[in-house]
Amino acid sequence: MTAPLPPALPALRDQLLDPTGGLVYHLRAARHRRRLWAPFHAAVADWLAGWQPPRAHLAIVGPNAGYALPDGFLARFERVTALEPDPLARWLLRRRPDAARLRFDRLDCLRDADGLARLADRFPDAAILFSNVLGQVSAPAADWATPIARHLAGRPWASYHDAISTAVPPARSTPCSLPDAAALPDVLARFWDGGELPLADHATFGLGGPGPRRYAVWPIAPGRWHLVEWVARPAG
Ligand SMILES: C[S@@+](CC[C@H](N)C(=O)[O-])C[C@H]1O[C@@H](n2cnc3c(N)ncnc32)[C@H](O)[C@@H]1O
Repeated sequence: MTAPLPPALPALRDQLLDPTGGLVYHLRAARHRRRLWAPFHAAVADWLAGWQPPRAHLAIVGPNAGYALPDGFLARFERVTALEPDPLARWLLRRRPDAARLRFDRLDCLRDADGLARLADRFPDAAILFSNVLGQVSAPAADWATPIARHLAGRPWASYHDAISTAVPPARSTPCSLPDAAALPDVLARFWDGGELPLADHATFGLGGPGPRRYAVWPIAPGRWHLVEWVARPAG
């Protein structure tokens, strides 16, 4: 079921060929999620197990088909609202055994600078989870940190997102927690040995501001690694 969206609000357009998801993502998931992606998905499961927002309603942005969500996660909430532009992903997500209380919404909360304010207004009772989407979609202004701090202050929210990506294999892949504001080179040193690291910066590093952060490496495809950051605020 999809809730009607007032015409004044920007609506998600169906996307099957989008670089942030789409058919390529489903093919990658079919190929890699049981082996190559499994250690990263175990890290996500660990992050989500530790995230217990005091809300009965979850709004999840960019869940795709829920490939990264552990079994039973959606059933932890009395209501789940998903914002996902990929129609195949929506079809698959609603077939998960834990999706009995799932519905979809068409709000595009990432399109412009007021998007997160609209997200907060439309779902005033919800905890919000950005599901590996903020490092994929360009921030409408300088960064994501500013609108998050402005519009989600006081709201339980969490995000896991690509911080950087690289073709250089990490020397170590054990997920780590950092208690407070470590700089990007310190975090990279947890996974990669010293020297120059050619990388793509996804402009999300430290988007939760001061406070604890967690990191894991996601081998999205053979020869390509993403450093993924987890933040939850208020920190729990
Ligand atoms: C990298 S995939 C992550 C999928 C999944 N959460 C995971 O962790 O495997 C990014 C997802 O964000 C979705 N997406 C792209 N733009 C979006 C938007 N404006 N609002 C909500 N979701 C969006 C894509 O369709 C895709 O499913």
